[in-house]
Amino acid sequence: MISISTVRKAEIRLHYDLATPFYWLLWGRHLHHGYWDANETVEVATQRLTDELVARAQLQPGHEVLDIGCGMGGSSISLALGQQCRVTGVTLSPLQRAWATASARWRGASDRVRFLRADAEEVEFPPESFDRLWSIECTEHLFDKPRFFQRAAQWLRPGGRFVLCAWLAGEPPLTDPQRILVETVCDRFLCPSFGTMSDYAHWLTSAGLVVEETSDWTPKVDRTWELCVDRVRSSGVRGLTRVFHNQTDQFVAHFQTLLDAYRTGAMSYGCLVASKPATPEGRS
Ligand SMILES: C[S@@+](CC[C@H](N)C(=O)[O-])C[C@H]1O[C@@H](n2cnc3c(N)ncnc32)[C@H](O)[C@@H]1O
Repeated sequence: MISISTVRKAEIRLHYDLATPFYWLLWGRHLHHGYWDANETVEVATQRLTDELVARAQLQPGHEVLDIGCGMGGSSISLALGQQCRVTGVTLSPLQRAWATASARWRGASDRVRFLRADAEEVEFPPESFDRLWSIECTEHLFDKPRFFQRAAQWLRPGGRFVLCAWLAGEPPLTDPQRILVETVCDRFLCPSFGTMSDYAHWLTSAGLVVEETSDWTPKVDRTWELCVDRVRSSGVRGLTRVFHNQTDQFVAHFQTLLDAYRTGAMSYGCLVASKPATPEGRS
């Protein structure tokens, strides 16, 4: 794991409160990477990433799902409408909670989703209250990742699954330039640390879950940052972010750094699937 000490939780919340409208303009309703096979549009590719995770989640109608770090509610609403699940979305940002709630109403999903403004590192749920845990690109922002996985595993029912996508640090040893790239991404993208794929697998296993899949999706998703760099150049969005908020501006200015981190192996993009044994002994 690579960590830095400069990130503050209040900054993460403020960032999503201020920057969410920019993301929506720049990228659409999913605040996550696209998944490409060919030249699909951003809208298709971002939904495709959600669908790739759906394919691994083994969802059934009526399943209770917790969407950890739900952004504008893109995944939650998709799972409610497409899979007939009942979804609780949690976000640090009050603006995102309001946005996701309005979006669910607009798209006719209000009866199956609810959104909470809560810190995933502090929120309490009764043990075994969810059939599935779902998290796309949120755990990067968490300060005590091992503790989060210990707590989250308690919320999962026996036989349940945890599916997640995350930006990852490359497996050690990293060269000094690679480490500097990772630390720069941590700082500019407000992530107190990045775990490696092995770290995530270890945290899930230590929380009593069985890791079913660890996949490197970097070649499928890295186009995201090429397109973001192009869109920032052609849209003049930096004229706005420069005046608006320095941290958001730094975020936008460093899309190329993230692309460089992927291209040099300093970072990667991972999908992990883990299950909770149906009995404490692991027998189904
Ligand atoms: C990159 S966005 C991903 C949003 C969403 N999963 C998606 O795919 O569209 C990161 C999300 O994590 C949330 N987040 C970050 N730290 C959090 C925390 N401690 N508790 C709850 N949500 C958090 C942010 O509010 C934001 O919604």
